[in-house]
Amino acid sequence: MRRFPEGFVWGAATAAYQIEGAVAEDGRAPSIWDGFGPIANGDTGETACDHYHRYREDLGHLADLGVGSYRFSVSWPRVLPYGKVERRGLDFYSRLVDGLLERGIEPAATLYHWDLPRELEERGGWTDRDTAHRFAEYAAVVAEELGDRVPTWITLNEPWCSAFLGHGTGEHAPGRRDPEAVFTAAHHLNLAHGLAARLLPGRRGVTLNPQVLRGPDAAAVRRADAVGNGVFFGPLLSGAYPEELFAHTAHLTDWSFVRDGDVETIHAPLDFLGVNYYTTTVVAPGGTGRADFPGCEDLAFSAEPGPVTDMGWTIEPSGLTELLLRLSREYPGLPLVITENGAAFPEPVRDEGRIGYLHGHLGAVLDAIEAGADVRGYYVWSLLDNFEWAFGYGKRFGIIHVDYETQRRTWKDSARWYRDVAASATLPDA
Ligand code: FCB
Repeated sequence: MRRFPEGFVWGAATAAYQIEGAVAEDGRAPSIWDGFGPIANGDTGETACDHYHRYREDLGHLADLGVGSYRFSVSWPRVLPYGKVERRGLDFYSRLVDGLLERGIEPAATLYHWDLPRELEERGGWTDRDTAHRFAEYAAVVAEELGDRVPTWITLNEPWCSAFLGHGTGEHAPGRRDPEAVFTAAHHLNLAHGLAARLLPGRRGVTLNPQVLRGPDAAAVRRADAVGNGVFFGPLLSGAYPEELFAHTAHLTDWSFVRDGDVETIHAPLDFLGVNYYTTTVVAPGGTGRADFPGCEDLAFSAEPGPVTDMGWTIEPSGLTELLLRLSREYPGLPLVITENGAAFPEPVRDEGRIGYLHGHLGAVLDAIEAGADVRGYYVWSLLDNFEWAFGYGKRFGIIHVDYETQRRTWKDSARWYRDVAASATLPDA
């Protein structure tokens, strides 16, 4: 048995569009995910887990799990449809936060988990600098409403996905395929974070999904790292975009969208860095690139060999240790929180694969802590099976099963396992 440090936070995470449903209720405006496709099986987020109506039941599950914190996201188009404050939307989150506090669960609110109001996309979305200012306005509204009760704030969830999958591969909304737009969007997302972070009360963080890149050729790894990680690590954590990033992308963009003072704005003080980790990527010279690594046109990207989850993602816990130690080394003094980690497996109840995945990754967190990393907490992805973006409902990440016909929630074995680990703050032997 291995013990977690005193005060380590045990959490569960979700995101608004993936669970709420009720897309046309109480004044909510459409987001870029409403009507976006193709999505597996023609699925949509219209009903999802119907959490908007069933949040009380879901609060009960959180309480029964005994988690210390719940990470949820606020839907921008629900609270600020067409730029106007919607009381009913704010009230929903206010009730949710009160419900958490009544149960002794600390709320951790993410402001942007990918559901950009569609009307902002029609004006250019993240490629338009104004969207960063609109985001700051939205952040101020939510902070004013919930700031007295929410101690932990995350501005953006995985801006890499918004920029690189939303504007590079087109797999995510808004579905663009334009390498220059990837970097324009990334910069405006960074700027949005910087503008908003200053307005938030409490502990402020941003959640990244750093790429853990492996391969025998150091130059290839460095290049992919500058593009995939440097674009966020640089301005957010060091206060400058890396020169290498400019060099590798000079044929795609002149970066003229970066204005004087932007990087100082982006480099706002952070109380913690949120880290989402799922798998590793292998990079090598001699390929034809990939749309989610613009600027790496002659590199090859592949998955590491080994067992995979239902997403086809290689199960590689050591990548998490490696990442946490790298971040600790390069950004000393910045507390780290695992804001997402988990796995898709199809089994409705006896999900040994998920237990094995969580066991391996929690062990990897302990390895990092024992080697000196300052890791403060861990949020399992996810509380519930939910709308897995382009994969729809086919990929199940929940520790609680959702029957989408009846909306019945059933605990999987992993939920009981996680409850026991969290209660004892110890990792059982495998
Ligand atoms: C992350 C997302 C989260 C979920 C998991 C599987 O990239 O933040 O919403 O889709 O992957």
